[in-house]
Amino acid sequence: MCGIVGYIGASQAAPILLDGLGKLEYRGYDSAGIAVFDGEEIQLKKATGRLKVLSELTHDGATMPGTAGIGHTRWATHGSPSDTNAHPHCSKGNGIAVVHNGIIENYLKVKKKLTNKGYEFLSETDTEVIAHLLDYYYKGDPLEAIIKVLHRVEGSYALGIMFKDHPDQIYAVRKDSPLIVGKGEEGNLIASDVPAVLKYTRDVYFIQNEEIALLTREHITFFNMDCEEIAKESVTIEWDINAAEKGGYEHFMLKEMYEQPATVRDTLNPRLKKGKIVIEELGMTPEEIQNIRKIHIVACGSAYHTGVTAKYVFEGMARIPVEVDLASEFRYRNPILEEWDLVLIISQSGETADSLAALREAKSRGVKTLGIVNVVGSSIAREADKVMYTWAGPEIAVATTKAYSAQLIAQYLLAIHFAQVRGTITEKEAGSLLNDLKRLPDQIELLLANKGKIQKFANRYIAARDVFFIGRGVDYAISLEGSLKLKEISYIHSEAYAAGELKHGTISLIEEGTLVAAVATQEDLYKKTISNILEVRTRGAFVLAVTNEGNTEIEKAADYVIYLPQTSSYFTNSLAIIPLQLFSYYVAVGRGCDVDKPRNLAKSVTVE
Ligand code: M6R
Repeated sequence: MCGIVGYIGASQAAPILLDGLGKLEYRGYDSAGIAVFDGEEIQLKKATGRLKVLSELTHDGATMPGTAGIGHTRWATHGSPSDTNAHPHCSKGNGIAVVHNGIIENYLKVKKKLTNKGYEFLSETDTEVIAHLLDYYYKGDPLEAIIKVLHRVEGSYALGIMFKDHPDQIYAVRKDSPLIVGKGEEGNLIASDVPAVLKYTRDVYFIQNEEIALLTREHITFFNMDCEEIAKESVTIEWDINAAEKGGYEHFMLKEMYEQPATVRDTLNPRLKKGKIVIEELGMTPEEIQNIRKIHIVACGSAYHTGVTAKYVFEGMARIPVEVDLASEFRYRNPILEEWDLVLIISQSGETADSLAALREAKSRGVKTLGIVNVVGSSIAREADKVMYTWAGPEIAVATTKAYSAQLIAQYLLAIHFAQVRGTITEKEAGSLLNDLKRLPDQIELLLANKGKIQKFANRYIAARDVFFIGRGVDYAISLEGSLKLKEISYIHSEAYAAGELKHGTISLIEEGTLVAAVATQEDLYKKTISNILEVRTRGAFVLAVTNEGNTEIEKAADYVIYLPQTSSYFTNSLAIIPLQLFSYYVAVGRGCDVDKPRNLAKSVTVE
């Protein structure tokens, strides 16, 4: 959470900082601030609320002269969103300015020491200790002071730092929070994520933990914690710059939903060679695949939901036992990991703090790890033994859609591949599954084209108080995701239940008119789900059913039916998610919610 930018170059810094922060606002958006060296002093401007408040305050940066500066968009952890708590934070007299993403865990202890030494704190943030501690250690050499500070603070951080005494320099350092450095033609930049620099450069350095970058107008130099200069290679970013723009859509979420057919193709096609699945990046021999004892899928939020789906797929197809864990639980529960286990860490951002910690936990136990990650060069991508990229491109809306779809595809591919190698499916079955996979993009397009029907239906439910999602098997997994989508962007209370579990308590919440979305795509469970539909309908629920084409019998039980094109029962989630995403989207739009930036959330959860 929180977005950081920095710029030093030939152009005016403030407009570039604001532009970069605009690309990072998905990371946090309760307040924002910039610090610019105006030739004499470090000038600060901060504002509570969305970035546009700060932009208005500074006339899009025009009122802040200077060609070097740092900026921040905040997702509050310590101290409420306010002008005072907004970053940058400064030492006395604005001698040193700091922007921070992460958490300084021992800040209270450090704060106490500094207070005893006469330092005055203005904010409630953990970050302010860094500004004062830098001042405490600073004796003329910024690098030396930064290294001393890093030895004192505990926790996670990405920092952008400016010293008034060294106006031609910007420093950047990270530990367990993302930070990149961009090398531009007319200046150099730092940022929490690639989209913030794409307008100015495609040449990017990924800073590793405890590496320090020193940026001047012309040069970028890297140091380790022993103050020794280190060599680093830049990477050329291939992303289409338009991928991070709305491109005429009202919201990023809508645009990203419409990108799903392409995302599925891009994740699938590079792994299909002459009609066979080839996952080169997996780096596992057939013997190793045959020997897998158990798969552990570890992730958070929607990525976790793809894991719940994949459990049914891996177990059904490849007959490998699967445990799915929330990363925040896995990391602390002392999981039983054995030699032939495989740990899959699923993450769009590749920076989710709990998922990263879970990955490290698994690695420390000597188990093989595979990251399924969207952001190239992110921490999970770099640290996992192997990485399989989901080629979804930048996802900006906080509510994930296309990355979710790509994560499903990556896991389907793995499952079919494992099943083939282990001989649990025949070549003919594998061929038919691949054909179904290849048809998914067109089928998703078809469902998206049907958005009008769902929009109409959604408009009837903008005032709903509670919505329940039910299903069995993979339909239960899709219910989890459907429910999360609705609640995170529309703020309507919603829950997902395994359909057979409702009558063990939750059914008491069903009242006249309560909306229940029932997903029934599994032919072997279809009749059982119909019974569950009837149970809630008898108690007054209004039932929206999502099922496969041809299952018209459901019309007798449900009030409204959405039909999905035919595919393998393993892959129905890739289709069922489309009407559920559209439903959530239109309900949220109808309620006037900020769809792309729901309250209290951030796209990338880089704190525990
Ligand atoms: O970047 P990650 O995939 O690791 O993020 C995990 C979750 O934070 C994420 O899926 C979250 O649940 C989404 N906002 C849901 O739409």
